[in-house]
Amino acid sequence: MESSEQAQHEDTKKVSIEIIETKLFAPVIAEEIQASIHDALELNNSCSLVLAGGSTPSSIYRILGRPSKDSPIDWSQLNLFLSDERWVPAESEHSNYRMIRETLLSQTVGGKPVTFPVNTSLGSVDEAARDYSAQIAKCLGSNQPCFDIVLLGVGEDGHTASLFPGESDMRETNDICIAVDRGSNGGARVSLSMRTLLNAKRVIFMVKGEGKAEIVRKILEQHGEIDQDLAQCPASCYRLMNGRVSWFLDTGAASKLTKKNKDA
Ligand code: 6PG
Repeated sequence: MESSEQAQHEDTKKVSIEIIETKLFAPVIAEEIQASIHDALELNNSCSLVLAGGSTPSSIYRILGRPSKDSPIDWSQLNLFLSDERWVPAESEHSNYRMIRETLLSQTVGGKPVTFPVNTSLGSVDEAARDYSAQIAKCLGSNQPCFDIVLLGVGEDGHTASLFPGESDMRETNDICIAVDRGSNGGARVSLSMRTLLNAKRVIFMVKGEGKAEIVRKILEQHGEIDQDLAQCPASCYRLMNGRVSWFLDTGAASKLTKKNKDA
């Protein structure tokens, strides 16, 4: 029996799959994000944009800050957040904010956005998660924030943001952010909660490389009971998202999809 949430969402079919040649992956996605920013700015004269971490986005972010002259972006109208952050010093090579600062924030043409890094100098990762939740709630004026655009990557194990397989039911918490302790598997992290991801108006998944092909196939084509899928593969949460969801895959990441999806 499908959950009512799943049944409701699957009926809306607000999910698109775009398969892109690897060499065009970054420019195509950067252009899509710029278009989504323009849409949000036209509606509200502001845009709350959540940036993914990891390595895939860096080539996209290097282009994102410099839109074409005929469709400029006033970056001062944007509020930038992180989907998740590692519990490391701001200058660490593992810091997502450092990657974002070096690839996007140093490149924006047309003003500077207001940025909200996770404060990793606080006493504990739990305190940092509470602090980040409070920053977001204050900026967006809600304890159940609805971001305009959320960018996400996917790990080979099916995690997204820092929501990893095997964690307790991630939809239980209504917190905006959560503290995640991976111990020796990858240290502690602050992550947007599943509930926060599900609320976003627009979600763009960016997945590149043959190493992700099997998990992409599982997520997009091997649908089981949603609670089990969420526990084993948190990126399956796309099936419950309220907003418009786009999967941008390079040909490597899409290489195990069936023809049906490839022709989508
Ligand atoms: C992080 C990211 C994480 C990332 C995936 C994919 O902090 O690592 O937020 O969710 O998006 O692990 O990472 P790659 O793009 O490096 O494959």
